[in-house]
Amino acid sequence: MPETPVKVTVTGAAGQIGYALLFRIASGQLLGADVPVKLSLLEIPQAVKAAEGTAMELDDCAFPLLRGIEITDDLTTAFDGTNIALLVGALPRKAGMERGDLLEANGGIFGPQGKAINDHAADDVRVLVVGNPANTNALIAQSAAPDVPAERFTAMTRLDHNRALSQLAQKLQVSVTDIKKMTIWGNHSATQYPDLFHAEVGGKIAAELVDETWLRETFIPTVAKRGAAIIEARGASSAASAANAAIDHVYDWVNGTPEGDWTSAAIPSDGSYGVPEGLISSFPVVSRGGKWEIVQGLEIDDFSRSRIDASVAELGEERDAVRQLGLI
Ligand code: NAD
Ligand code: LMR
Repeated sequence: MPETPVKVTVTGAAGQIGYALLFRIASGQLLGADVPVKLSLLEIPQAVKAAEGTAMELDDCAFPLLRGIEITDDLTTAFDGTNIALLVGALPRKAGMERGDLLEANGGIFGPQGKAINDHAADDVRVLVVGNPANTNALIAQSAAPDVPAERFTAMTRLDHNRALSQLAQKLQVSVTDIKKMTIWGNHSATQYPDLFHAEVGGKIAAELVDETWLRETFIPTVAKRGAAIIEARGASSAASAANAAIDHVYDWVNGTPEGDWTSAAIPSDGSYGVPEGLISSFPVVSRGGKWEIVQGLEIDDFSRSRIDASVAELGEERDAVRQLGLI
């Protein structure tokens, strides 16, 4: 077992996702069953007490891998020496708020966090942004961290990926493990494109196993609007499934994706598939040697092209908006 614990910082630690996430990290599911961890819980001052309550519960689990917990509202403390930063805390959209207001409010959170990561995190820091609008928040944090390789800033579309797997598995009455090569393209928003033209079920292309009307009118909107459907049903946004996806994303990033399959993650574009360089967009990815790589060489038909372009255009608009606000 490694001697030195890995420092994992969770922002918004007293929130719903934080509560679903911290216990799984401490039990070894984020990094592996033999990797000791040290947790840093960042909260706003009003929520520090609630985070302290969660830390008491973490203590009460007596997790063998948990080597310490710090609770703070100070960015330098939270990110000092951090190896994995899970940026969950964000300002939710409130009544009467325009998209620009939301981007600006979140710029005030993710800019300073990116700078603190730049100045204080460990050299191998990896960042996953969960807080919405996740892709653009990741872009804001990344541009405030010029000394950290850009590729270390990612945003979460793994929840969308997992939703797509489940919807297809239920439709075809197969196990999720029978499905390979699912892809979410673009933004973590209702414009995202879950792609069945490269997904395989038992070696056959998934799009050929379902009718076109179901693919266009049921599958794509169900996956893309699932977050809103959960809010409608629960009265709160997805929490345990979001935490689960964050665990999947970081575990695969650090430990590698299985041969013969890929997953989805929003990572800085290198220009692949016509996505403008620098946009943090979801792609089909594998992880090799601790780095995400975009799967190359996929043929994109006209239908997929138009869906990818629409979501990427939205990312471009968000980038332009935060640029105009001086956030990047
Ligand atoms: P929540 O409101 O329950 O918790 C958010 C927490 O963040 C609160 O405790 C709040 O005090 C804290 N916070 C706010 N500003 C902060 C700051 N500057 N520093 C540190 N902490 C801060 O929300 P939640 O349900 O846990 O969701 C968190 C975010 O994740 C939301 O933006 C939500 O939309 C997003 N989300 C993303 C996905 C995804 O797939 N990418 C899925 C679900 C939810
Ligand atoms: C989700 O996909 O469940 C969330 O991003 C929804 C939200 O708006 O919080």
